[in-house]
Amino acid sequence: MDYRGAFLQRKVLRFVVSAVIVLLFLSFWLYPASHLSPTPVTAAAQENEAVLPTLPLDYVESPREAPWCANSFGVAYLENMRNLATEYCASSSSSALTCFHSQTSGSRIDTFCLAQGASFNSSRQRFTLGCELQQSSMINAPFDIPSYGQFEDYWYETGPNIVLDKVIDLQSVSSTGTGRTSANANFTILVNREGPTNPWHTLMEVFSMTMSIDTLQMSRGVNHKRPLFTAADMDNTQVLVIDKHEDGPFFDLWSLFAKKPALRLRDLTPDSPIQFENLIIPLAGGSNPLWQGDWEPHLCQRSPLLRTFSNRVLNFYGLEEHGPEGPDIVVTYINRTGSRQLADSEEYFRTIQATIPHITIQSMDFATIPLKQQVEIIRKTDVLVGVHGAGLTHGIFLSQGSAMVEILPAGLNHKGFRNLASLLGHSYFSTHASQTSNNDWHNEEVFLEKERFIDILNMAIKGLYNKGEKNYDVV
Ligand SMILES: *[C@@H]1O[C@H](CO)[C@@H](O)[C@H](O)[C@H]1NC(C)=O
Ligand SMILES: *[C@@H]1O[C@H](CO)[C@@H](O)[C@H](O)[C@H]1NC(C)=O
Ligand SMILES: *[C@@H]1O[C@H](CO)[C@@H](O)[C@H](O)[C@H]1NC(C)=O
Repeated sequence: MDYRGAFLQRKVLRFVVSAVIVLLFLSFWLYPASHLSPTPVTAAAQENEAVLPTLPLDYVESPREAPWCANSFGVAYLENMRNLATEYCASSSSSALTCFHSQTSGSRIDTFCLAQGASFNSSRQRFTLGCELQQSSMINAPFDIPSYGQFEDYWYETGPNIVLDKVIDLQSVSSTGTGRTSANANFTILVNREGPTNPWHTLMEVFSMTMSIDTLQMSRGVNHKRPLFTAADMDNTQVLVIDKHEDGPFFDLWSLFAKKPALRLRDLTPDSPIQFENLIIPLAGGSNPLWQGDWEPHLCQRSPLLRTFSNRVLNFYGLEEHGPEGPDIVVTYINRTGSRQLADSEEYFRTIQATIPHITIQSMDFATIPLKQQVEIIRKTDVLVGVHGAGLTHGIFLSQGSAMVEILPAGLNHKGFRNLASLLGHSYFSTHASQTSNNDWHNEEVFLEKERFIDILNMAIKGLYNKGEKNYDVV
């Protein structure tokens, strides 16, 4: 090795040594001391960590809401119901019947119940509860708590009163059964539907069922340490349909919270002697707060309840990640077949396609498509267009900030879909069709001048020109 080589080698060595020193220094300086010293973290230090100062509250506080909005569409709806739990069976009974009450619509009191310690008598096709009724009273309740048998009835013969009457017998024998305290319990949701096919009616019913179970998850029974229902209980939960309607396209949704296969009352034969520990008799669809005030515009602009329900359905179908994609504004027209068709719709949309840039138009007859596929189409939609009707229920599944266009029959001032759009943060555009002679809005064809149709679509579509990745000038 020559002199020059040795010099270079020394230089490199010096460089490496100083680099190591600098790095060591930097790492000591950058790392907090606790990472280097393996001394155990004291309880006091842990406590200090637990009380780290938090985000200023105004980041997390939700905006003030009208109390009616919070009580009808916010979690207060569930909390209020939880706080009005009432036990109907005397403590000597082998079963318990706990009912929860809510009042959001005038003087009507809505109810759902949980029966614990029920047994099934297959020869009678009814359940028996060992229950000595007791006076249901509650101090400080904001209304008179209804007694057993006095619960509200709802349209299409639905609601807990009808269910209790149809399939439950109370036997006032005092027994030593342990139904009330059984820890590893099975759950059966008693479902008594309004009908099988109408999307709006059905989704309101399923939504009310989920809110009943949410309230159970927020509640503790008498002498119970655990909540009345937990996520783990879904494995032990089944749906038992006691109505005689066909399954229909929404049937699967009843099992949002039930992992065991759904049954019909007729499936319970004498050879399958089944004991059901817990029966859930859910809120009627007709009690859903979304039904309320649907002829008046309301001021409520958010609904954690509805948002959560929408997410649950999307999750159920594995569609939570789906949203509008691609460069175009996707306009989906709900083409009702049968009643209330928009006259000349095909020609109108041809003109729209030719005159409004950056759009894709699709026309759908949802009645012929499975629900999962319907929701998938809706998730990829930016502007949902339809003549007033249950198809607009799908606004529930639009991604946030989409647009809805509703063409109302002349003279019909229904605000249900307007209010739905408001609760979900969609923009909403409405127009009324021209008056026709025989005022049968349910069935007759709907006429709207072409210019007005183009006008309203123009607004809805261009309102989304800068939504998400879209980036267009209005020209
Ligand atoms: C089932 O109901 C029938 C008819 O009312 C009755 O005779 C029978 O004792 C009941 N079975 C049980 C196990 O309670
Ligand atoms: C509860 O459900 C499990 C699983 O389906 C079943 O094996 C068991 O018999 C049920 N218990 C009663 C009392 O019905
Ligand atoms: C809607 O469906 C009807 C048939 O029921 C059809 O004549 C019409 O062209 C459709 N409209 C659109 C926009 O596709």
